[in-house]
Amino acid sequence: MIREMRAAIFDLDGVIVDTARYHYLAWKRLADQYGFGFTESDNERLKGVSRVRSLEILLEIGGLSLDSETKTRLASCKNEWYLEYIHKIDASEILPGAAKYLRSLRARGIRIALGSASKNAPLILERLGLAPLFDVIVDGNKVSQAKPDPEVFQRAAGELGMPASGCIVFEDAEAGIEAALRAGMGTVGIGNPSQLKNADMVIAGLYQLVALEAIG
Ligand code: G6P
Ligand code: MG
Repeated sequence: MIREMRAAIFDLDGVIVDTARYHYLAWKRLADQYGFGFTESDNERLKGVSRVRSLEILLEIGGLSLDSETKTRLASCKNEWYLEYIHKIDASEILPGAAKYLRSLRARGIRIALGSASKNAPLILERLGLAPLFDVIVDGNKVSQAKPDPEVFQRAAGELGMPASGCIVFEDAEAGIEAALRAGMGTVGIGNPSQLKNADMVIAGLYQLVALEAIG
């Protein structure tokens, strides 16, 4: 249920910046090397999921079973390809309305945290010039349980000093919405309502909230 927002916790990939397509391209390159198909619709299953778990899902799609040494090597190989894209991104890739909405929340005194599974989140926020807008950053380096486990959002709320009941989570992944609900937080889904059925409300992007604020 949507309640009064005292703190906002944002996922990164697919909410603030469109890095989901770079994750997709890097995983696809790996699938291509092993000669199996990997579609954008398959990629939906990887959204919000940790790197290691994403690799397991990818291998499941390809019908492959590999030893843990090979899996570690492949995960780091995928990350190197992903970083080739990330090193080139800049503020032009911030999703529409995201920077404006973050600034407007700050102006209203609402505390802001990042709650992302990505270990690359600090680098991405730096490259986009958005790091100073966040009071707290919880990324994949700080948590041991991947979404849909609520750990990432609980830790963000803890670092903000905010009860779960005052937090609203902005998420584009089904696993992320589930994590936020399990944490007892309000949820705003970003994307397609048919993929985010459990969210309290679903919008196409943060630009819609900026437009609503403009109306008053
Ligand atoms: C986000 C993305 C996932 C990605 C995960 C780990 O949650 O939605 O697609 O696998 O972060 O990202 P990383 O940058 O650490 O590989
Ligand atoms: Mg996401």
